[in-house]
Amino acid sequence: MENIIYSDGELKLLDQTLLPCREEYITPKTKEDYFYAIKALQVRGAPAIGIFAAYAMALLPDDKVELKDYLDSARPTAVNLSWATERMLKAYRDGKNLIDEAKKIHNEDREMCRKISEYGLSLLNDGDGVLTHCNAGALAASSYGTGLGPLLLGKERGYNFHVYCDETRPLLQGARLTSYELEKAGIDVTLICDNMASLVMKQGKINAVLVGTDRIAANGDIANKIGTSGAAILAKYYGIPFYVLGPYSTIDYSCSCGDEIVIEERSGDEIKNMWYEKPMALKETKCYNPAFDITDHSLISAIITDRGIVKPPFDINLERIKDND
Ligand code: MRU
Repeated sequence: MENIIYSDGELKLLDQTLLPCREEYITPKTKEDYFYAIKALQVRGAPAIGIFAAYAMALLPDDKVELKDYLDSARPTAVNLSWATERMLKAYRDGKNLIDEAKKIHNEDREMCRKISEYGLSLLNDGDGVLTHCNAGALAASSYGTGLGPLLLGKERGYNFHVYCDETRPLLQGARLTSYELEKAGIDVTLICDNMASLVMKQGKINAVLVGTDRIAANGDIANKIGTSGAAILAKYYGIPFYVLGPYSTIDYSCSCGDEIVIEERSGDEIKNMWYEKPMALKETKCYNPAFDITDHSLISAIITDRGIVKPPFDINLERIKDND
């Protein structure tokens, strides 16, 4: 199922907030519609946000510089958003056809995901138990996705994986989206609460942890969905490889380490009220809802990009795959 479909001047977006119960597409028209879709997570996952924003830059009649700033402000942590709008702005200034450029970004993402999936699969064995956090599948990017790509590709090649999927509080991308995607692909998936990851690791059920990423700093620190660093700490403790999968465009060489990454903070309503019939805390109870955390590079076994498998030391090896321009 495609999450973003462009055809004849119109963009259709699979509304991820309605999954897994309803598969419905929306057609954003104004810049406010596009902004809302990104902010409210109708489209989410770093590469998918970038693709969607690229089409917005192509389709909307608004001033491109203002539009870029406006869209970028919807979600600050995922670098793919500003990377895509920057590329579209450059294409605009160079007089290129913007629809063609947006389609190019979309197609390149498909190729990158495919390569990442191939590299990732080379690190897994048939029968492996895999833990995953948040959603880094086709919904979060284009076909295959990143963190789930090796599992989806492996399934096509006859591998049998046993996936443990963190529900991923508070927005439940693991429960609502990852278990949905894996079920649809026919992959054996078991949903767990985030605080059960330690036990399933201790019980020997996990051979590898696979996650996507929103931004990779030059030293290999990564920003990812809140709770990812906890899974990485556990993996280190139990001696389980922890793999981060993401396209080259997710590496932010201007960012020397994770401390420089802006962490998006979201409404406490997502913790207290969003999924419940009744409030889960008093109205006056304060909430802290950072959407991402930083996983220290020392906890990461390898960063898998479309340019290959990058192993520690990350500061040196990420530099080796950097474009020279
Ligand atoms: O807040 P979200 O749902 O956009 O967060 C998504 C993630 O953390 C993904 O794992 C990350 O963007 C990588 S997507 C291939």
